[in-house]
Amino acid sequence: MRNLTGALLAGLLSTTFVSADPVDDKLVLNEETTLVTRTAAPAHLSGVLDEVMSGWLFRGTETRAMQTDDFDNPGMIFVDKGEDSWNAVEGTEGKSCASCHGGSEDMAGVRPVYPKFNEAAGEVRTLEMQVNDCRETQMGADKWKYTGGSMANMTALLASVSRGMPVNVAIDGPVQSTWDEGKELYYARTGQLELSCANCHEENFGNMIRADHLSQGQINGFPTYRLKNTKLNSVHARFKGCVRDTRAETYKPGSSEFVALELYVASRGNGLSVEGPSVRN
Ligand code: HEC
Ligand code: HEC
Repeated sequence: MRNLTGALLAGLLSTTFVSADPVDDKLVLNEETTLVTRTAAPAHLSGVLDEVMSGWLFRGTETRAMQTDDFDNPGMIFVDKGEDSWNAVEGTEGKSCASCHGGSEDMAGVRPVYPKFNEAAGEVRTLEMQVNDCRETQMGADKWKYTGGSMANMTALLASVSRGMPVNVAIDGPVQSTWDEGKELYYARTGQLELSCANCHEENFGNMIRADHLSQGQINGFPTYRLKNTKLNSVHARFKGCVRDTRAETYKPGSSEFVALELYVASRGNGLSVEGPSVRN
């Protein structure tokens, strides 16, 4: 960290130096499945990061433990709620998600590749956009609020059936320009603090910022159950919070800017296991 921004950030970062390396720990789910929480960085990060790491490695012992067992993971209650709405008939077409898609477990493999380009619509879609598109055009039902509870329950269900599968979003072809835009946003300094995502999550992961242990800001664990607000938190809600912390005007959840940022941030975690719903503080 060089200049003025560095000085500002140094002020934010804890002055007492505690050893704050990520823990050397393995995330084994239900004593069965070992998830990949650190792995070689994808090629597009060469020269920037050697390794990518899940936010799980930066949390305390108790918080980490909650995520190892579905009975202890408070996020799993919301997965059950997501399953109920998967099977609920809604809208003018008299259909449920299950009417067309079968069991929710048949969606295994979908979460890891989103955001993804939709050929027919000619747009990059997040999972939330795709779910709302199905609700509107396939079911004749109302859209869910982008970061609302029903949507988070559904994305938790869709993540849960892919747990352990590696994040694998495409970054080229038709998504390339969106990915480029996301990358630009990631490195853009915003707000009175003039901080970019990279200032905190690339240059300072492992350091303490106030009481928080800074992670790489990965999204493989979303949606995330936060002990702080005792509910599921979606990706764009988290982005909003982080941007606001730099005292900047933030983009709206579901905006094209946050969609682009999500694609880029997801691609920084290519190779990490899908963990959602994860537990964080
Ligand atoms: C009437 C049939 C129908 C219903 C009901 C329906 N979908 Fe879909 N869904 C589709 C079709 C068709 C596609 C492929 C659309 C496309 O590629 O544009 C799709 C695609 C998807 C995908 C992306 C899959 C992939 O491989 O990329 C997800 C996720 C999804 N639906 C979730 C849901 C959810 C959640 C519900 C209930 C809220 C739902 N769908 C209800 C027909 C339906
Ligand atoms: C001032 C420093 C700071 C900036 C700038 C910042 N964040 Fe964060 N972010 C944090 C802190 C602190 C946390 C909570 C601890 C952690 O997981 O790193 C966090 C958490 C996150 C998480 C949750 C990680 C997980 O595993 O649950 C994501 C995702 C994230 N940030 C993305 C971003 C993005 C994208 C940007 C840029 C728009 C950004 N952050 C900018 C400080 C920052």
